Amino acid sequence: MNAYEFNKIAGALLTALLVTTVIGFMGNALIHPRKLEKPVVVIEGVEAKADTQTAAAPAVIEPIAPLLRQANAEAGKALFKQCAACHTPDKGGRNGVGPNLYDTIGNKKAHIPGYAYSNAMQAAAAKGGEDGQWTYEQLNAFLANPKAVVPGTKMTFAGLRKPEDRANIVAFLRSLSDQPKPLP
Ligand code: HEC
Repeated sequence: MNAYEFNKIAGALLTALLVTTVIGFMGNALIHPRKLEKPVVVIEGVEAKADTQTAAAPAVIEPIAPLLRQANAEAGKALFKQCAACHTPDKGGRNGVGPNLYDTIGNKKAHIPGYAYSNAMQAAAAKGGEDGQWTYEQLNAFLANPKAVVPGTKMTFAGLRKPEDRANIVAFLRSLSDQPKPLP
């Protein structure tokens, strides 16, 4: 290959590079890609990262055992108004959006036979042992942040931030039983 031929080839390569770069710039200048604020197609069970519900939740869930002895079931009953849109508290009460909550504490998760629980809740119940039951602390964690503690649950409730509120609600839930379970 002589020098002249080499120059021709090098020139051709450089031109090709230049043309592709210019086309690339022009393409970017003509079209401005914009990110969507939220996904257009929402796949059930998959949540957008910016979900306010999970963002607001406490990172560490404080236990309520130390609070339960001073907890106030009457205050819990007042707080239960937040739950009553979806849950009934009375014995044999109907299921609403969520299951009836009589006799929940100490019972297995997914405790109402005729209610259509999510797969996530059924899987939680199938764990067996304490993990499959609504112990005081399991319930505490669930009420603090339902979606984080049982990922895939269909309970769309942001969660109760204050440990005192959770203790009071749990004290009220405990009273919903023929034989309330002993305090921890
Ligand atoms: C917007 C409706 C809604 C609200 C509000 C709500 N829940 Fe739920 N809850 C549900 C649904 C739906 C389920 C079933 C979850 C599943 O199957 O994944 C559920 C499940 C539960 C369970 C498990 C019951 C079982 O049998 O295992 C408990 C306990 C519970 N909720 C307590 C509460 C309490 C206490 C509040 C108020 C602080 C509350 N929920 C607020 C809809 C709701």
